[in-house]
Amino acid sequence: MTADPVPAPDRTTPRAALSCDGITKAFQGVRAVNGATFAVPEGLVTALIGPNGAGKTTVVNILSGSMTCDGGTERVGDAEVTNWPSHRIARLGLMRTFQLSRELGGLTVLENLLVAAPGQAGESLLNVFLRPSLVRRQERENVERALDVLDTYGLFHLRDNRASDLSGGQKKLLEISRAVMASPRILLLDEPMAGVNPALIERIGGHILDLKATGVTVLMIEHNLNVVERICDHVIVLAEGRTLATGRLGDLRENAEVVQAYLGEVIDASTHG
Ligand SMILES: Nc1ncnc2c1ncn2[C@@H]1O[C@H](COP(=O)(O)OP(=O)(O)O)[C@@H](O)[C@H]1O
Ligand SMILES: [Mg+2]
Repeated sequence: MTADPVPAPDRTTPRAALSCDGITKAFQGVRAVNGATFAVPEGLVTALIGPNGAGKTTVVNILSGSMTCDGGTERVGDAEVTNWPSHRIARLGLMRTFQLSRELGGLTVLENLLVAAPGQAGESLLNVFLRPSLVRRQERENVERALDVLDTYGLFHLRDNRASDLSGGQKKLLEISRAVMASPRILLLDEPMAGVNPALIERIGGHILDLKATGVTVLMIEHNLNVVERICDHVIVLAEGRTLATGRLGDLRENAEVVQAYLGEVIDASTHG
């Protein structure tokens, strides 16, 4: 008996770093997410687009473990992680940012990064007593890493300022810096450029491409189609909680259903800020 030949791996399609199948979520009986199914290709920048209320933020909340879903499955790589809490998903290298920045206003910029550092030995009281040198070394390393990240994101000079005193744009950069502090493999960004000026949009776009260059997989909710065109390799269109289409933006523009259901509205929204 001869075995079927093993198909050669398809090198043109990257594997999915993150995927979901049939995700549902209702709020007070209203389906906000209604069977969302898509894959986020590894090592690329993927845009999650769709009209207001399409369920984009809810999907990101579910994928990052900030919220549970009612049905469907989520995978990080091959591991099924449906309804895992965020701290457990974070251990697989998945981090997210919020649409409205969630900086800790009373803490300094540097402290905001330090509390976002992963696996802190000092969190264990036992380590503090039994392995004080380990705790001190890790704290020193975390400070070095945090200062590096702040330098990269142009916030180094603000390290001792209270986070609440930052401008809106600086808070967006801090939000990304906090997620990057944990050296994620997969980064989910909820409208990282919303409400920031064109120069900062450019800068944040550059940071996202730099992350991609280091191998980070990015899924970002984005309204601005010019940004999507410039920095996103792949697009997922969500409408009424369902995946309406996936592909390259250019191809989606030729998809009459997508254009009708959605792109017109987004083009409208992006020209109105
Ligand atoms: N915590 C919540 N409680 C009740 N309804 C919610 C909640 N979060 C989102 N929704 C509703 O779910 C739908 C999808 O919202 P959302 O995921 O924020 O959409 P998007 O990010 O695409 O604009 C909207 O109708 C919204 O009002
Ligand atoms: Mg949203």
